[in-house]
Amino acid sequence: MPAVIVVGTQWGDEGKGKIVDYCSKHADFVIRYQGGTNAGHTIVLGEKVFKLRLVPSGVFYGNRVLIGSGVVIDPEVLLKEIDDLTSNGVDVSLVVSGKAHVILPYHPILDGSWEKTRGKGEIDTTKRGIGPTYTDKIARRGIRVFDLVNKTYEERVRWNVRLANRILQYVLQVGHKLDVKEILQQCSNWSDRLLGYVGNVSEVINSALQEKQNVLFEGAQATFLDIDHGTYPYVTSSNPIAGGACVGAGVGPTRIDKVLGVCKAYTTRVGKGPFPTELDDDVGFHLRETGREFGTVTGRPRRCGWLDLNMIRYASMINGLTSLALTKLDVLNGLEHLKICVGYRWRGLDTTSLPIHDMGSCEPIYIELEGWETLLHGDKLCSEAKAYIAKIEEETGLSVDYISTGPKRVDTICRRSVW
Ligand code: IMP
Repeated sequence: MPAVIVVGTQWGDEGKGKIVDYCSKHADFVIRYQGGTNAGHTIVLGEKVFKLRLVPSGVFYGNRVLIGSGVVIDPEVLLKEIDDLTSNGVDVSLVVSGKAHVILPYHPILDGSWEKTRGKGEIDTTKRGIGPTYTDKIARRGIRVFDLVNKTYEERVRWNVRLANRILQYVLQVGHKLDVKEILQQCSNWSDRLLGYVGNVSEVINSALQEKQNVLFEGAQATFLDIDHGTYPYVTSSNPIAGGACVGAGVGPTRIDKVLGVCKAYTTRVGKGPFPTELDDDVGFHLRETGREFGTVTGRPRRCGWLDLNMIRYASMINGLTSLALTKLDVLNGLEHLKICVGYRWRGLDTTSLPIHDMGSCEPIYIELEGWETLLHGDKLCSEAKAYIAKIEEETGLSVDYISTGPKRVDTICRRSVW
């Protein structure tokens, strides 16, 4: 009975929510291990579309869902999400780690204000306070869920608000002044409601693994947004990679059995930063419109381009991937020819490795494959799509175990289950 990590292999928005939901059918526990309200995991169930930002995507199969210490939590968003799910008839059996850090109202304000001062060098963050919350965590002045529920936050919140006000006034020179009384009142409101959800997440997960139950670790964002291994500084402030699951859930690496990489059939990116296969033409337009490539959290149009297998090879190395889930294959319908990047020309050299520090200087080397009009004939993939998948497998050395051919659960081909 395995422990499986589901991780994004590109710049996020690969459709991890759908894959986690699909695999959750046979899971006992699903745990989110990093990120915060910058994530937006979309799950389509019948006529209903759910967009989850904090609650793990496994919630719809009635599993126990957990939020690990690596996640940063905006209590307002989390409590609303729980209420919305409950009012839609979803049973939310959630345990939240007391060690997780809390996004307080000054974090999004600082996030937006720091972005403004960067000018042209802006990262284009989601402005949900993610960076400043992780900054406070590392600087050892953060507020944890434990502090909220034990009501041990007041002195530190007062100190943090004083500090934030000074940064806003003297460093960033924006007119914003935070009202500490209001923030303390919000903390007090959240405290009692969160109390019912707090538990020892690492102990729950480790006992589950001991009892040989199926545990799914759900990553948010993705490999190329990883603070250590992504396209720094155009990254998020956490570790979405598989290694981050051990830290953010509190389990040892020897406990992990499989790492499933979610890979979109093409590439997208929101925000600034290098993107070798980006398309600024009709094909890019087709991908954005057909794939509905607009941010779940911010509504921003996503940059679109061809599939880049150099990226997937790098993701395979960094995460120790054991197989792939290929998503949104149907979005390629109607394109006469398809390109796949199989290497880069970098500083005059042809290479199949990825110089992550200088990705902006990489020119893609493409191969061209035949496109298709109709992806499925009955429940069988067309021969051109099979060839596209075979090329991915050949170039990455990974088997494509899941293929997503549309947004619904039924639009999924499972060639080999992770369980
Ligand atoms: P932050 O995580 O809000 O600090 O944003 C840092 C970078 O990561 C920005 O380029 C965001 O657009 C990007 N980002 C953050 N979360 C996601 C996500 O869930 N999907 C795609 N991009 C994301």
